[in-house]
Amino acid sequence: MPASKTKPAVPEPTATGPSNFLSVTDERTGTSYRIPIQDGSIRATDLHQMRAGSDYGLLSYDPSFANTASCRSAITFIDGDRGILRYRGYPIEELAASKSYLEVAYLLIHGNLPSKSQLSEWLHNITFHTMLHENVQKFMDGFHHDAHPMGMMVSTLAALSTFYPDAKNITDEHVRYQQAYRLIAKVPTVAAFAHRHSVGMPYIHPSNDLSYTENFLAMMYRPSWTTQYTPDPVLAKALDTLFVLHADHEQNCSSNAMRAVGSSHADPYSSAAAAAAALYGPLHGGANEQVVRMLQEVGSKERVPQLIRQVKEGKRLLMGFGHRIYKNYDPRARLIQQTAEEVFAVTGRNPLIDVALALENVALSDEYFIQRRLYPNVDFYSGIIYQAMGFPTDMFPVLFAIPRMAGWLAQWIEMIQDPEQKIARPRQVYIGPPERHLEISGAKAPVRKPSRTVVAKRRAPEPS
Ligand code: SDX
Repeated sequence: MPASKTKPAVPEPTATGPSNFLSVTDERTGTSYRIPIQDGSIRATDLHQMRAGSDYGLLSYDPSFANTASCRSAITFIDGDRGILRYRGYPIEELAASKSYLEVAYLLIHGNLPSKSQLSEWLHNITFHTMLHENVQKFMDGFHHDAHPMGMMVSTLAALSTFYPDAKNITDEHVRYQQAYRLIAKVPTVAAFAHRHSVGMPYIHPSNDLSYTENFLAMMYRPSWTTQYTPDPVLAKALDTLFVLHADHEQNCSSNAMRAVGSSHADPYSSAAAAAAALYGPLHGGANEQVVRMLQEVGSKERVPQLIRQVKEGKRLLMGFGHRIYKNYDPRARLIQQTAEEVFAVTGRNPLIDVALALENVALSDEYFIQRRLYPNVDFYSGIIYQAMGFPTDMFPVLFAIPRMAGWLAQWIEMIQDPEQKIARPRQVYIGPPERHLEISGAKAPVRKPSRTVVAKRRAPEPS
């Protein structure tokens, strides 16, 4: 609803209710505007009306989207001050305690928990789409022996777009949901194959008689087809809980990438590859790998003060700490800590947990971290569990990508279905040089006058 200089675009607020308008005066022109406020936000395009002379109209400048809502979403709710996380309204604590990852994946994508028959169909579709085309395996064979598995994941997701050309029909709802269960089904297979490639072991193909996480563990750790392997049920359950905790997180960097690339109507495999590439970054999903490397470098509780000193001197970040939204304890970090004890009961205690706990205690009582509201995030403890479960450190971002696929797909589907969403194309504030001309052999290049047929386009004002 565009603002207007005179009558409001929305009904007048009731005499008693608070005004749902922002009144601003553009002092460049003396004009006042009343901008409608809806759901705690104003439309940035309402600023566009505010022009001074011939300028383009006000833009909202928000580097890295620190205070910008890019969409209206019904999937995940986060209250960063109170440490609240809900998927489709359900508190993460309740879902982690009582629902499987695939039930939660269905919830994120479809909006409600599945009925018995819906779950049965969902599990069938996923179970029977876990295989990869033989040529995908040949594609993965081409990676260098020590290729990072997350780099293999990103590339192979993109390569999958060439195996399912029908996925380009993104306006067809059936096509969208078909790619959703193909991607959820195949991402553990791609992950396990990336690991097997990096350790020079034969690929172990998916088994249809195992659960989602049991199947993944078998593809990861079964020595060969000829040897029996039974995944530990406690570890499979713990991994399933970790997958629930990592499934979605509203408009994080990788979900933003999924939406942005998907907004050009690229297929979901290419969009998921972009999302995985964003997650690969050490400031995002790559942090769980960096946390364990940091804890290994610290080595003991006694050396924690030295690390804290380096962080406070600005020499390094405390990996696994801080969050753009959570200015309180990340509720997932607390739940992951609880899961750690279940895993250690099977694997034995990972001594790094004691270094992590000591680090947390020191950081949470230190003014530097308190003032910046830095708390442990989802990545601080997850790597310690993954390491205890025998996963190589470079597999940790891959273990984040597997469950986040459900969130990326839910965000992608919601974006495609949202009538307000178009191709993502932000503006800029131009700070480059004004018009200038090439010098040709000492003389100024003749300035070609635009022909009469060229219509002058509005351009952002050049800096004075
Ligand atoms: C994930 O968005 C999501 O939802 C992400 C995620 C999800 O589920 O998708 O939750 C998953 O990515 C979790 C975050 C994992 N990354 C890390 O653990 C890496 C370490 N953390 C930082 O890089 C940082 O905290 C971010 C990137 C997570 C958040 O950065 P912001 O919001 O841009 O915060 P900032 O950089 O503006 O920091 C504010 C201040 C700065 O200090 P000053 O310049 O004001 O002096 O806090 C400092 C920062 O230097 N700071 C840190 C710090 N994080 C922020 N100082 C030391 N160690 C840190 N980890």
